[in-house]
Amino acid sequence: MAESPTVPRIRLLATGGTIAGAQTGARGYAAAAMSAEALLGAVPELTDLAAMEVEQVARIGSQDMDEAIWLKLASRAQAALDEPAITGIVITHGTDTMEETAYFLNLVLKSTKPVVLVGAMRPATAISADGPMNLYNAVAVAASAAAVDRGVLVVSNDEIHFAREIAKTNTTQVGTFKSPNRGLAGLVNRGRLHFFGPVVRRHTAGSEFAPITARELPRVEIIYAHAGLQRDLLDAAVRIGAKGIVLAGVGAGNLSTGALTACAEAVKAGVMVVRSSRTGGGVVERNIEFDDDAYGFVVAEELNPQKARVLLMLGLQRGLDAAALQALFTVY
Ligand code: SIN
Repeated sequence: MAESPTVPRIRLLATGGTIAGAQTGARGYAAAAMSAEALLGAVPELTDLAAMEVEQVARIGSQDMDEAIWLKLASRAQAALDEPAITGIVITHGTDTMEETAYFLNLVLKSTKPVVLVGAMRPATAISADGPMNLYNAVAVAASAAAVDRGVLVVSNDEIHFAREIAKTNTTQVGTFKSPNRGLAGLVNRGRLHFFGPVVRRHTAGSEFAPITARELPRVEIIYAHAGLQRDLLDAAVRIGAKGIVLAGVGAGNLSTGALTACAEAVKAGVMVVRSSRTGGGVVERNIEFDDDAYGFVVAEELNPQKARVLLMLGLQRGLDAAALQALFTVY
């Protein structure tokens, strides 16, 4: 008698977001209104792909995702990945901060098994909700051997993105996610995968931050630069006890003269300053308009401000100095 093929086993960790949202009127909606079980129930075709099990880790709009929930999510994800019977995991998440959570998990989970984040731009009860197909595709990716050792992935709108590359670029459209610098990881058409290229930077099983054991992360603030940015907000960040500041600088991570003076003083006071860019693409390089070596600044290279904040928090948690932190930005 022929043996039945092994069915992939996928654990879904639910955190809320619009994928679990319900409309409250013609336009309004409440995020995280639906349970994880209800999400699965809406896509019966998932049983064609995998044996599913669910765990509700949080039930929030992703604007409320914070370091404490990240650490809890990482711990529940790691526990699932460590179970030999689990093939991969899918995490449902609001799209607003999905890129930050994806990049955090990309750095702190020790496993080569597939980890896929998925959300939706339209609530589950909306006309033409995008969540069900996104979820179907996410499970297909998490169940596939082709997704092994590619780091944390995000599936949305028939696209597969690497955690490091993805950014939300539009307030409402279903095609909101882009990977502006290095492009897509691949495509997924109703469960059929097409990977384009390998992941380029260190992640998950190869990350020195995985598995994470920290119980809290150092405070890091992002300051958004603009024409004529004054120094007050930078000074305030130092005053309230930030251990690091990420500057969402103009252009190639630039800042006004007043802000530059405040950043230089912040470094002297022991606060790490990382120059990133508000432009949404490209590279912030060292020592172009500023002498980063002399000021003791770190540059974020390709990481956008919100991902630079994640890496900086992990580096500061390890007590790394500016040179060691800069090295992180060239590796992760
Ligand atoms: C959220 O991020 O929780 C709300 C928006 C969304 O999921 O699309």
